[in-house]
This record gives sequence, structure tokens and C-alpha cells, in this order.
Amino acid sequence: MRIAVVGSGYVGLVSGACLADFGHEVVCIDSDASKIEALQRGVMPIYEPGLDHIVAKNAAAKRLVFTTELREAVSQAEAVFIAVGTPSRRGDGHADLSYVYAVARDIAPNLKRFTVVITKSTVPVGTGDEVERIIREANPQADVAVVSNPEFLREGAAIEDFKRPDRIVIGIEDERARAVMTEVYRPLYLNKAPLVFTARRTSELIKYASNAFLAMKITFINEIADLCEAVGSNVQDVAHGIGLDKRIGGKFLHAGPGYGGSCFPKDTLALVKTAQDYGSPLRLIETTVAINDQRKRAMARKVARAIGSDIRGKTVALLGLTFKPNTDDMRESPAISIVQGLQDGGAIVRAFDPEGMEAAKSCVSDVVYGADPYAIAEGADALVLVTEWDAFRALDFPRLKALMNDPLFVDLRNVYRRDLIARHGFRYVSIGRPKEDIPVSLSSAAE
Ligand code: UGA
Repeated sequence: MRIAVVGSGYVGLVSGACLADFGHEVVCIDSDASKIEALQRGVMPIYEPGLDHIVAKNAAAKRLVFTTELREAVSQAEAVFIAVGTPSRRGDGHADLSYVYAVARDIAPNLKRFTVVITKSTVPVGTGDEVERIIREANPQADVAVVSNPEFLREGAAIEDFKRPDRIVIGIEDERARAVMTEVYRPLYLNKAPLVFTARRTSELIKYASNAFLAMKITFINEIADLCEAVGSNVQDVAHGIGLDKRIGGKFLHAGPGYGGSCFPKDTLALVKTAQDYGSPLRLIETTVAINDQRKRAMARKVARAIGSDIRGKTVALLGLTFKPNTDDMRESPAISIVQGLQDGGAIVRAFDPEGMEAAKSCVSDVVYGADPYAIAEGADALVLVTEWDAFRALDFPRLKALMNDPLFVDLRNVYRRDLIARHGFRYVSIGRPKEDIPVSLSSAAE
């Protein structure tokens, strides 16, 4: 099948490459000529494990082509995916749909046969209606079906998520689109990935409701972690204990410094705005957003408390800056609030991140970057694990202790166990775990 993907950012590129890998003929289009030129040379604009390989393989097989020219690719395609960005609109938090609507206007005159136009970008309820209206207004002859097909990709695991999804949600208003979409995803269908067909507005809401629920789940366990600290319980054991109930499920119950990234913060805010506009407020999500914002700021205070009351002139070394591992994405990362909070208190902040240091430079200033954990630990008063990269899971603690001014380890992702760290003479502070580890069987099972 011939497919055009408009927008070669995160979603478009991963989707285009994976669809080509299924055997479809895919043209990825982007208006950014330098991005397209780099992709033609095999240079990826983002860090995503496995993506370069899959792009190279399918480009070599001529199933995946990159271009800035939309016209020909769209006129020949049976399916056109819109995968451009929908950033938060400045000032009000609504999703900015100007890029999506601009693509709808661009593709309209080039629709020469029955074409399914699919919004893959995360778009508020009703966007599909507007995309269809724009296309029909610009080209009344167009034989088109506009479909909603939200993505559920996680950065860092996007290829796996695309190829082995829990479900594929497809919102249609025109029955003819069902056959085309089934054909697009046939290779996954054979793998028994459920195709969930719904009405278009329902599909649009499924995406937001999924992200909002996950953000709420994380925020729930983060608040439980605070309570654990107050009452002397262990949040990992609580998560394990509740997660075994299949109605709750064990995933997304890792307490931490608050959720970040390009999706949860933006999508929760956009959903809250939509709900307010329709006079049906989502108070749980409003509260989730507020708690998460406060939590990110509170993490700097947690580090300060661990160091002692006054952090002026103290050196704090941060392990990890990106909002999660296996990405170079700094958007809404808790690290940004942590750096700012520590600097406001007068601390000197150093940092190392395996992939995120370039991106960090435009989000935070006056940070001293080092080449590895040991370079930033030298003379430091605290080492803070902010992002749980694998590279930080087996640190050489005797070496770190010899380098540091004060052996304090603040573990904001609960990667380590207190007893293991304390053995090396470190003070250890983590999230939602008792001061002394209690050796019950659940503890070891959960860690
Ligand atoms: C999220 C969703 O997981 C995807 O399903 C969705 O497609 C995507 O948003 C999107 O809308 O495009 P992503 O933002 O890449 O994916 O990352 P997640 O793995 O969901 O993590 C988001 C944040 O939550 C990170 O800051 C992470 O550290 C935090 N998190 C996650 C926790 O603090 N605890 C957890 O248990 C899980």
C-alpha cells in the first residue's frame, strides 16, 4: 500500500519507518529541508533506540523515501497520515492545531482518488471534524475519509510499542475507511493486536483519557510515597501489593520526582481545557496537574533538606537530566525544576546525562557538565540520581566516596537499596521508603 506521512518528527518518523518495515511504500514529508536532507543521509533528528537501523534498512530497500515535496506523494497515496506537532498554545494550554490545519489545507488540492486522511498527532476532540471541513471546503470534489488513529508510543520504546501495541484505536465516520485501515495494520492484526474501531470523536478522547489516567496513576503513587515517608511504610511494597490486583495493575506505579516529557504535561493540560470549555470539568486531572507541578519543585527542597538547611556554595551533582532514560528529550523534565531550585538556594549544580546534555543547555543555565558520574562527583556534597539510565545502575560507590566531599546519595528513582549504599559509608535518601529498610519478603520481591 502507498502511504504518505506528513511530519517527520517523533511520531511521523517512527510510524513511517515501522509502516515501511511492514512492507508498505512510505513517503515521509517534512517542510524542514535540513531535516529531510539529514534523513536522506541516514542521520536521525532524534535519539530513539533502533530507529536508525530500521530507517537505513527500509531506505535501502526503497520502501522509505524522505522529501519536502508533498504534492506527488499525497496524490499517489491511499492513506495520508498527519503527524505534525501540536504544542501547547502559549498562554492558555490549549493544543495548538495550526500545523495540523495547515497540512489539511496543503493536502486538499492533491487528493486525486479515494484517500483516507488520518490524524496521528494527539488532537482534541472535534479536530477530525475540522480537518474534514477544511479539506472539503478547499476541494469539494475530494473523495476523502478522515480518520483518527492516535499513537500510544513511549519515547525510548517507540519501535517496540508500534510493532507490538496493546491495541490500535481507529475512529471512523466513513465505513470505506475500515478496509483501508485494516490493510495498513494487517501485519499487526496477524499478530493479534486488537483493532478497536470507534466513532472519530471517541477515538480522539481515548488518547487523552489514556494519558490522563496514566499521569493520574503516577501522581497517585507519588502522593502515597509522601505518606509512606510520613508513616514509615515502603512505597515499592505498597505498589507491588496493590499492583497484583489485576483491576489496578502493577505498571506506572513507580514513585519518582514527577512525570515530564512532551506528552503527559501537555495532554493533561489540553484535556483540562477541553473539559472546562464543554462545561464538564475533570477535577481529578486538574488536581493531578497541580500536584505534579508542585512535586517537581519540591524535589529541590528534598535534596536541600538532605544536605542540611543551607545549600549556599554546596556542590550538587545530578545523574541524569532527561525526563526519562533512553531519550535525549528534556521537555518538562523534573531536572529543570530541580536545577533551578538548587541554584535559587545558592548551590553549584553539576550534571551528567548520557544523551541529554546538548538539549539541557537550552533549558537550564550555569550547569557544569561532566563526562561521566565520577567527573561530576569530585568534591561534591551530594550526588542525586534524577533519571534512571542503565549506566547509573551499577555505580562504583567506593570510587565515588573517595571523590566526594560528603558521601550523600539522593535516589529520586529508587534504583538502589539503602543497605547496599550504606555499606559503602553513604547517607541515602530515596522516595517513599523508610529510613531503615525492613527485611520483609515483599521488599525483595518489589526491588
Ligand atoms: C507517554 C505514554 O506512556 C505513551 O503511551 C504515549 O503514546 C505518549 O506519552 C504520547 O502521548 O505520545 P512518554 O511520554 O514517552 O509516553 O513516556 P512515559 O514512559 O509514559 O513516561 C512519562 C513520564 O512519567 C516520565 O517522566 C517518567 O519518568 C514518568 N513515570 C512513568 C513515572 O514517574 N513513574 C512511572 O511509573 C512511569
